[in-house]
Amino acid sequence: MRWLLMALIACSTTDAAGPPTLPSVPETRPVTPEHGTEAIAARDATIRGDLDAIHAAAAKLEGRLPWPNFPATYDARQAAVKAAAHDAANATNVSDAAEAVGRIAQACGECHAEAGIAPMRSSPPAPDAADGIAGEMSRHKAAAELLWLGLIRPDDQAIKDASALLQAGHITTPGSDGDPNLGQAERELDAGVHELADVMVSNPGGRGAKYGHVLVTCATCHLVTGGGPKSL
Ligand code: HEC
Ligand code: HEC
Repeated sequence: MRWLLMALIACSTTDAAGPPTLPSVPETRPVTPEHGTEAIAARDATIRGDLDAIHAAAAKLEGRLPWPNFPATYDARQAAVKAAAHDAANATNVSDAAEAVGRIAQACGECHAEAGIAPMRSSPPAPDAADGIAGEMSRHKAAAELLWLGLIRPDDQAIKDASALLQAGHITTPGSDGDPNLGQAERELDAGVHELADVMVSNPGGRGAKYGHVLVTCATCHLVTGGGPKSL
C-alpha cells in the first residue's frame, strides 16, 4: 500500500436553487442551471471507487457539453471541462478516473474565476470530534466537499479549512474500538488523506490532480476494507 501512497503524495452543499435571472440583461447571467450536477455525481462515485458510476456520470457531463446559454467567450472553458469529462468517462481504472475528476473540478473553478463569480458560500461544517471510523469518515466527507469547493469556486480558504478539519482526528488503533478491518495499510491511507490535503495548501500548483489523489485514496481504502459510503 505504501508504494501507492508515496506515489500519490509526490464539493456538496450547493445553494441548489439556481441564481435569480435578470431578464433585462440575460447576457450577464449566462448560466445553465445545475451545470455542476454530473460532476458531483462523478466525484461521489470516485469516493466509492465505483468505476462504472464514474463512467456514467462523466459520460453524461461530456454529452451535455457545451452547455446552452453560455456565450462563445466561454467556449475554451467549456472545452476544458469536456476534455476532462471525456478522460474520466474513458478511464480504465479508478486512479486515472480520479485524476480526471480532479481536473474537471479545476476547470470549473477556472471558468468561475474568469467570469468573476464565486458560486456557493464557504462555511466549513463543524468538525466531528468522535473517535473511531465514524468520526473520521464524517471529517473525510466534509473535507472532500471543502476541497471540492476550494477548487470549483475557487477558494483557498476552503482548502485550508479542509486541512484544518482533518487535523481534528485520525482513525484510532485498529481493533481497539471495533473498527472493521483496519490495519497498518489502512492507517497509512488515512494518513495519506491528511498529507495530501496539507500538500494542496502548501503547494497550490496542479490542485486538480492532487484532489484526484485524495479521491483515489478514499476509494482505495473503501475497496480494500469493503467499507465506504453506499451513496453520498
Ligand atoms: C464556461 C464557464 C463555466 C464553467 C466551465 C462552469 N461554470 Fe459554474 N457557473 C458559471 C457562471 C457564469 C455561473 C453563474 C453565476 C451567477 O449567475 O451568479 C456559474 C454558477 C455555478 C454555480 C451556482 C449556481 C448553480 O447553478 O447552482 C455552481 C454550483 C456551479 N457554477 C458549479 C459548477 C461546476 C461544478 C462546474 C464544473 C463541472 C462548473 N460550474 C463549470 C460558469 C461556469
Ligand atoms: C482508512 C481507510 C479509509 C479511508 C482512507 C477513507 N475511508 Fe471512508 N470509510 C472507510 C470504512 C471502513 C468505512 C465504513 C465504516 C463503517 O462501516 O462503519 C467508510 C465509510 C465512509 C463513509 C460512510 C460513513 C457513514 O457513516 O455512512 C463516507 C461518507 C466516507 N467513508 C467518506 C470517505 C472520504 C470522502 C474519504 C477520503 C477523503 C474516505 N472516506 C477515506 C474507510 C476509509
